[in-house]
Amino acid sequence: MASLFTKPKKKIVFLASGRGSNLKEVLQWIAKGKIRGIGQTLVSDNPESKALEIAKEYKLPTRILDFRSYSERSEYHKDLLGLLLELNPDLIVTAGYMKILKPEIIRAFSNRIINIHPSLLPAFPGLNAQKQAFEYGVKIAGCTAHFVDEGVDSGPVILQGVVKIKEGMSERDLTLEILKEEHKILPLAVQYFCENRLQIQNRKVSIQ
Ligand code: GRF
Repeated sequence: MASLFTKPKKKIVFLASGRGSNLKEVLQWIAKGKIRGIGQTLVSDNPESKALEIAKEYKLPTRILDFRSYSERSEYHKDLLGLLLELNPDLIVTAGYMKILKPEIIRAFSNRIINIHPSLLPAFPGLNAQKQAFEYGVKIAGCTAHFVDEGVDSGPVILQGVVKIKEGMSERDLTLEILKEEHKILPLAVQYFCENRLQIQNRKVSIQ
């Protein structure tokens, strides 16, 4: 039987729109050999995304689909699907990708898309999750690495990172603490995926 280390590495496509700190963390883990994967391409919808610079630093090929240059949103989503099918990765990681993926993409890559969200799902899905948590006044916040399904931040949970909200903490402090946790759990979720250790049953993920 082929051992884990004789199996081919997984090809990973990243989608990112912004700063790219989560992308950087995963690329670092790949560079250190902690993830049995190969960064295939970064696809960004934003030509000004800092993630593009990070990709360059790690020699990860990039493709830009400039969302603002499309007069029809549906054309953007069609091109994105076409590009992803052409790249045909084993895994897609959405790391600060600010668009909702269309069902056609999710179906084409079912249980092969991992997202990082800055709240303890199912609490506070959608935008500005840290702000939502802070304003609600919760005592425990955090982040979730999860598979993407057709809902918004509703797919099977892989890992969660917890942040206790201390007296006097600002929203900014909270956001930074959550980000530190994101940088731990996203690469770990990708590592588990690349080692075929994640199993989904009745939308529950078990880690082998
Ligand atoms: C992170 O907080 C992530 O959870 C959210 O968007 C932010 C992206 O940060 N989806 P970065 O681009 O990875 O630095």
